[in-house]
Amino acid sequence: MKILVIGSGGREHALVWKIAQSSQVEKIYCAPGNPGTAELSENVAISPMDFEKLVSFAKDNQIDLTIVGPEDPLVSGIVDYFNDHGLKIFGPDKNAAQLEGSKYFSKELMKKYHIPTATYQTFTSPDKAKEYIGSEAKFPLVLKASGLAAGKGVLICQSSEEALEGIGQIMEDKAFGSAGDKMIIEEFLEGEEVSIFALSDGEDYLLLSPAQDHKKVFEGDQGKNTGGMGAYAPAPIVTSSLIEKITPEIIERTFEAMRSEGMPYKGLLYFGLIITNQGPKVLEYNCRFGDPEAEVILPLLKSDLVPLMEASINGTMREQKIQLYDKFTLDVVLASGGYPDKYEKGKIIEGLESLDSDILVFHAGTKSENDFLVTNGGRVLNIVAMADDFFSLTESLYKNVDRIRFEGVHYRKDIGYRARKYFE
Ligand code: AMP
Ligand code: GLY
Repeated sequence: MKILVIGSGGREHALVWKIAQSSQVEKIYCAPGNPGTAELSENVAISPMDFEKLVSFAKDNQIDLTIVGPEDPLVSGIVDYFNDHGLKIFGPDKNAAQLEGSKYFSKELMKKYHIPTATYQTFTSPDKAKEYIGSEAKFPLVLKASGLAAGKGVLICQSSEEALEGIGQIMEDKAFGSAGDKMIIEEFLEGEEVSIFALSDGEDYLLLSPAQDHKKVFEGDQGKNTGGMGAYAPAPIVTSSLIEKITPEIIERTFEAMRSEGMPYKGLLYFGLIITNQGPKVLEYNCRFGDPEAEVILPLLKSDLVPLMEASINGTMREQKIQLYDKFTLDVVLASGGYPDKYEKGKIIEGLESLDSDILVFHAGTKSENDFLVTNGGRVLNIVAMADDFFSLTESLYKNVDRIRFEGVHYRKDIGYRARKYFE
């Protein structure tokens, strides 16, 4: 088979890496890819949002299956576009991708089908939202732009001053563009976050390893939100009794709800959950693999990913089985100095050749320039280790991370800290 992977981050490098191991695959292309994907596939300079060029490329090169990494093309209907041209593509169509593309859609769905989530109000006018803050609101509370905002459209507010300022940013100043035409104000939930991943054909589904991301930039979950500074899997907080609760109340109810709405969900659905004292609740849905979670869950997947993706498209998930390695994986993200605020690019990256042979490296913001590998984004590299035991894993990973150098590099030294208490 010939496969086209769309995207250019660490998640897409991990997808290419996993697919390259499939016995069914003869050639992989990645659009636009990065220097990491270039080692395993052929990079093609087409933007993930240029559907017309992607379809022409897929036709000209007899691509058998296209796999989409990021959310923007999915939310904009890339799956419908490929299907209209008779091409096979993995992921949800435009209707189903609303689960991530519109928080208004997903919150209404959860309310209608009694899927546990934070209580909320929706606003289309800043005045009404401000009125609510002045009367009924309890603090802390959470403001969310309804549309896609690259993970940035969420503000946690401790006081009415902060909330009024936030409403101004989202709805009046349009800090996140048209994503802020509608806004959600919701209850603040307390608890640990986990990411659950289900591969579905709309009817049946299979679960991958649960993971935990680290969204804050500094140790101890301090500082600003980022795209994710590291991850590990499987997350031990997800016990079998928790899965027994999540399965009927959240996972199955969501797939059933989407069927009832006439938009069965095919593809990978990422449930962003928070484990509160009252039980697990949904924070958000994402219509694709997480990043950095893909970098830890794909190495734990023993089964070939390609037949699973084909089963999602063909509606034969029921016939599939999934095998996972009984190991742990940990990913530390190396970021550019200043990230998630302003940062410089073009810093030479050194030390990758000195890593132990069992360490995986997934590129994110890197570029090849005059025979050097240089930084080209906020999140630069994912360094991943896999081991039988959690503590030796942490030790061997950080020993390797310390060998990589570029000007301004920073990373969290406590990735996986929430898991430690389960093994001590
Ligand atoms: P979202 O894009 O909705 O997942 O929000 C981004 C991040 O904001 C989440 O990963 C949480 O860390 C935080 N967050 C969002 N909603 C809430 C909430 N209702 N209570 C507490 N934290 C939240
Ligand atoms: N790791 C968070 C995300 O992919 O949305």
